[in-house]
Amino acid sequence: MGSISDPSKLKPNPRLSLFSTLPPIPADEPFSVNGAYLSDTHPQKVNLGIGVYRTSTGNPWPLNVVEEAESRIYDARNKDRHEYLSIQGDREFLNLASDLVFGFDSTTSPQIRDRVTSVQTVSGTGANRLGAELLSRHIRPKTVWIPNPTWANHHTIWDLAGVPEKSYPYYDAQKKKFNYIGTMESLSKAQKNDVVILHACAHNPTGADPTPTQWESIARLCAERGLIPFFDLAYQGFASGDAAQDAWAIRHFFGLELEFCVAQSFSKNFGLYGQRVGALHVVSFPSLDKNTAAGGVGGDILANLCHLVRGEYSMAPRGGAEIVRTVLGDAELRGRWYEDLGVMSTRIQDMRRALYGELVRLGTPGSWEHVLDQVCSALILRDIVS
Ligand SMILES: Cc1ncc(COP(=O)(O)O)c(C=O)c1O
Repeated sequence: MGSISDPSKLKPNPRLSLFSTLPPIPADEPFSVNGAYLSDTHPQKVNLGIGVYRTSTGNPWPLNVVEEAESRIYDARNKDRHEYLSIQGDREFLNLASDLVFGFDSTTSPQIRDRVTSVQTVSGTGANRLGAELLSRHIRPKTVWIPNPTWANHHTIWDLAGVPEKSYPYYDAQKKKFNYIGTMESLSKAQKNDVVILHACAHNPTGADPTPTQWESIARLCAERGLIPFFDLAYQGFASGDAAQDAWAIRHFFGLELEFCVAQSFSKNFGLYGQRVGALHVVSFPSLDKNTAAGGVGGDILANLCHLVRGEYSMAPRGGAEIVRTVLGDAELRGRWYEDLGVMSTRIQDMRRALYGELVRLGTPGSWEHVLDQVCSALILRDIVS
């Protein structure tokens, strides 16, 4: 008797697959450039793909302080180290993560307690996605205003969240600067509850940020028009070497009692790219109604975020968050993290100075001062290559 599952008896199925109507999806640019880089055998190849820190020998750099935290975690071998986290995530990690953004101790500051709801996410991308989902389902913005250019994934994230997008002209390619006037003109057409994507520091891909005075005007405009700022914070401390300075704009917006979101990533500033460590912080007005109050257990914002997380992936992974908690929760390790941040940001600035010097030495046509003015960013390299 032949078995039904005998593969030799299976006939090719002439029916069209259910999936034959799936739309073609263009390859993700940074990841395909990275793939091309890896398969290229040229000895002088340069990687202009994914934004990751590399040493002078072109290798990844596990931060010294991260290695120290990993060995402490390993030595402690806590019995609960493989347990589920809560849906919200590791609360101690979240308090430290929000302290890093907002600049004061969230365990003691009533202001933070009243106004900030934090949930652990699958890194910065997950935080952007979760925030987009919350706003799209419950606030229903008519438009999300996305800077042109931007990190390409913003388009995908908001498209998947079903919110129509408009762009604002962020970059003046001629002057190689942030386009303040164009940005203000566009955003003054935005409607109440529209979302505005803002890069908190080290704008990707241009490396051009607003000045503090320009940030103040953007914040005022958002407050006057009832817009919802959405900060993408992927490079805190990586840009200037100073974590507080890189969070300046967010802290300013907090002071104005705006309601907004912050998508925080620890990929770059801790070198924990593959660990997927991040947090979404939702800043709301202080509320008299305890149920809509933000951070407290039982708050509606937290409950809704947890509902979305539960239906998506239950909770964020624990390993990387444990490393960040170990570092930020220990004064000595935190000091050593600031040193490691200094190593990375100084090297990036040194590379920019060296590149500028070489371009000038070779008499390369054009002006290259923006190479010195801008932070992080691969756009200058693309300028040169193209
Ligand atoms: C502007 C911006 N936002 C968010 C991210 C997300 O990174 P991750 O998901 O690794 O935290 C990146 C990474 O390159 C980025 O450049």
